[in-house]
Amino acid sequence: MSKYLIAPSILSADFARLGEEVKNVVAAGADIIHFDVMDNHYVPNLTIGPLVCEAIRPHVNVPIDVHLMVKPVDRIIPDFAKAGANIISFHPEASDHIDRTLSLIRDQGCKAGLVFNPATPLHYLEHVMDKVDLILIMSVNPGFGGQSFIGEALKKVSLVRELINASGREIMLEVDGGIKVENIAAVAKAGADTFVAGSAIFGKPDYKSIIDAMRSQLATA
Ligand code: DX5
Ligand code: ZN
Repeated sequence: MSKYLIAPSILSADFARLGEEVKNVVAAGADIIHFDVMDNHYVPNLTIGPLVCEAIRPHVNVPIDVHLMVKPVDRIIPDFAKAGANIISFHPEASDHIDRTLSLIRDQGCKAGLVFNPATPLHYLEHVMDKVDLILIMSVNPGFGGQSFIGEALKKVSLVRELINASGREIMLEVDGGIKVENIAAVAKAGADTFVAGSAIFGKPDYKSIIDAMRSQLATA
């Protein structure tokens, strides 16, 4: 299996046919399903919750990667774990007790992730590297699909790659926002191993040709 993972974001899927959409994207080669949860409070948009996670769970045999853009965070975590989430990530600004939230996610049997907005400093990682299983670098401001990639994110990805290597731990390094066939290799070269793509995949008629093209680009990285 390739060391790179492609994680289509269902934010850009057809919600009226979501079961079929997730099945199709996994058949097309998706490694993970990225599940964007927005609350119209932490971010100015409102999407889907644990009921939808539970509804798609039987349709896919790949991990479901829940990206929480909600505040507060803790109350909803057990609901997503019960709904079949495998990875749960949150934004440090949205939790008053980051260490506790990370432990709560792991106690529920999921991998725990911390998410960094374009202007969020990495210092939140300093005392919790042993408690994170995934670090997610946002390359857009959260809230909407289809935005343009913010180039500054590449520097941040390289810095996080160094931190992960220094930790000696296996921590996934995911990037989310504006990823396309044209820029995925540059994101991989900066040190990412997991790539979220919403509009680049679900916006197109043939998911497999896009995912294959992404993998060909990754092979050059
Ligand atoms: C944005 C979400 C992303 C979004 C990515 O807040 O976290 O996962 O769906 O969409 P694209 O790939 O279209 O930028
Ligand atoms: Zn996301």
